[in-house]
Amino acid sequence: MTAWFREVGAAGRLDRLMFPVRLLSGPGALARRIASRWSRRRRGADSRVAPAGPSENWRVRTLALVLLLPSFGLGAKAAELPLHADRASNLDLALTGLLAGTEPGAKRYARWADVARLPRTKLRVNGEFVPGEQEVTVVFLSDLWAALPVREGADALLATSSDGYAAVYGTSFIRDYRPFLVLEINGQGPEKWPPAGLRFNPGPYVISVAASVVPAVAKLSDAGHKRPWGVTTIEIARLEGRFDAFFSGPWAGADAAVRQGRELWIHSCSSCHRGPGEVFGGTKGNRPFALLAAQARHTPDYFRRYITAPKELVPTARMEAHPHYTEAQLDALTAFVALGVAP
Ligand code: HEC
Repeated sequence: MTAWFREVGAAGRLDRLMFPVRLLSGPGALARRIASRWSRRRRGADSRVAPAGPSENWRVRTLALVLLLPSFGLGAKAAELPLHADRASNLDLALTGLLAGTEPGAKRYARWADVARLPRTKLRVNGEFVPGEQEVTVVFLSDLWAALPVREGADALLATSSDGYAAVYGTSFIRDYRPFLVLEINGQGPEKWPPAGLRFNPGPYVISVAASVVPAVAKLSDAGHKRPWGVTTIEIARLEGRFDAFFSGPWAGADAAVRQGRELWIHSCSSCHRGPGEVFGGTKGNRPFALLAAQARHTPDYFRRYITAPKELVPTARMEAHPHYTEAQLDALTAFVALGVAP
């Protein structure tokens, strides 16, 4: 019981903007996105099927309903998002992780039409997908979170894309920066994508943030890492669990610089790189963590330059540059990653 109420209270309903707002994603938003996505091979092809006992599912759902009823009185919980054991369409959103009623690693599937029944908001955006003005219909991640049977202790939503890109959204980020799931562009859903003027399909789901929804988005150092396209799967997680190795072993008792480096890694580098072992991250980086750690320890100048300007070192580099990182941020990243080498 308490688990449910705590979760609903802590990370559940966050107030929504219910009126259209004009977004200025910046003139370069589209170009940046296209440039940062070099390979769009598979899409929506996740065929792993969750082995789910329907009766167990039913039990959990009933339990959830019973537990939810009192919380309506607090205005705390939205309608539950129906979850299915089987994928019915490439447009289904796969959900996994710390969800009541699912075994570790199992997936559930939400139908696009059910996601579209969550509270929706229309936003005017400029250059977000195609040049010029467009209207997007969105569901805030806070509302998605509130509609899921999130287990106690979860504090992050991890998105993975069909091309191996990933993005990490802590519950405090969800509250403060109000990221949203894009369901329609100019009134058209993903079955009609790509919209005219876009060369590839950004679907099935896109997550984004916008400075006109939350002005502080303009000050985010790595807002691009919070705008994944081709999102197929959302995992509900606990950061210290999913990034466990980075909080134990050589990283236990990390000093301030190492902690800052860890933050940067989790919220930026993990879009494309995995940590050691099972630590969450995208697969685009295509380099073992041990290699990066060896570089940070033994050739720190190379490591730092690869982060700020990879093409200066390797003309064919596909990694995106991070020219805006300060010396202090590079020190922090180097200190953090170098700990991955046994002393
Ligand atoms: C958009 C995806 C992406 C992001 C984000 C990203 N990387 Fe990379 N990274 C790559 C890819 C791909 C490679 C493989 C070499 C290449 O094509 O650039 C790579 C290679 C590297 C290398 C060099 C390994 C070698 O082969 O010499 C280092 C060091 C590195 N990344 C560190 C980082 C750090 C630290 C961050 C976070 C600030 C980061 N990367 C963020 C995609 C990314």
